[in-house]
Amino acid sequence: MKTYRVAVVGAMGAVGTEMIKTLEQRAYPVSELVPLDIPANEGKTVKWKGQDVKVRVAKEGAFAGVDVALFSAGADASLALAPIAAREGAIVVDNSSAWRMDPAVPLVVPEVNPEALDAHKGIIANPNCSTIQMLVALKPIHDAYRIQRIVVSTYQAISGTGAAAIAELGAQARAWVSGGKIENSVYPRQILFNVLPHIDVFLENDYTKEEMKMVHETHKIMDPNIQVNPTAVRIPVFRGHSESINIQTEKAFSVAQVRALLEKAPGVKVMDDPSKLVYPTPLDADGKDEVYVGRLRADPTVPNGLNLWVVSDNLRKGAALNAVQIAETLVSRGLLGK
Ligand SMILES: NC(=O)c1ccc[n+]([C@@H]2O[C@H](COP(=O)([O-])OP(=O)(O)OC[C@H]3O[C@@H](n4cnc5c(N)ncnc54)[C@H](OP(=O)(O)O)[C@@H]3O)[C@@H](O)[C@H]2O)c1
Repeated sequence: MKTYRVAVVGAMGAVGTEMIKTLEQRAYPVSELVPLDIPANEGKTVKWKGQDVKVRVAKEGAFAGVDVALFSAGADASLALAPIAAREGAIVVDNSSAWRMDPAVPLVVPEVNPEALDAHKGIIANPNCSTIQMLVALKPIHDAYRIQRIVVSTYQAISGTGAAAIAELGAQARAWVSGGKIENSVYPRQILFNVLPHIDVFLENDYTKEEMKMVHETHKIMDPNIQVNPTAVRIPVFRGHSESINIQTEKAFSVAQVRALLEKAPGVKVMDDPSKLVYPTPLDADGKDEVYVGRLRADPTVPNGLNLWVVSDNLRKGAALNAVQIAETLVSRGLLGK
């Protein structure tokens, strides 16, 4: 089997760590893992197949001989380094928001639009975590019944903000238990025992950037004609985003038909039996690959309305897994090592 040199940029971060784990768990054909990060992390190690591999500095020249570079080092690093990596011959799969809306860059969820990869020019973008899990669940419904409108409220885990936020929630919990002062620096308010209707910056239209990412990315990946009305909310959960989704479709359906569609949809696991208290929660999704769907029920207030509750691990399908699946699809579509 052909094998590939794979770089992970931001290798010490929350997503980078998960990417390395996912590459190993899914037995991606890696000939050499190249972990890259900031100079302060040079020489630190990551675990790869039981061995310690030294982290190198992400800079010009670091991508020579690399086939695929999975980026998760933030938008500034991606803007600066992704073109360099592509020039040096790597295909970049970027997790940040830097390139997602560039018309020359495919924005891909492998279960939804894998064919978009064929037009890549060296950089491929991984969508926002909230968009990915929503579209994996909605794509089969859209194909069958044409979704016209989506109203979505998210309940997003703090690991979506990265390693510093994970540390902040832990520190606030320890301070609360010991009666100490609860301090915040990553979030504008205390996140422990709180809920913040605020993810990323506020824009001129009073929506947040996170909310508008869900609108624009849904249009680019699935259908520009769908109306999307999002509210993005941060909750004090470590791992796993949840979404309350209300849709309206053009064609009529029964809930049983939708359930049957979702039960055979790639990447989806239906977990829906209220009589037995079966519904997905972030702890059910922790460390798992699937997008879990529950609480399926008709919305009686509008024609062809449906409510769903969708939960997935933001660090897996929302980030690392989707990126690795893109790298896998590059191989299966014959796009790597051309
Ligand atoms: N967390 C999620 O669920 C999620 C989901 C989808 C997308 N993303 C995106 O993925 C990216 C990374 O997120 P994260 O949650 O993993 O953040 P993180 O935990 O803060 O990790 C980022 C890592 O990249 C390093 N880094 C910063 N600048 C760099 C540079 N110029 N070159 C190389 N490495 C650099 C950081 O080092 P220092 O911390 O030492 O500066 C850190 O090790 C972000 O763009 C984020 O929006 C995250």
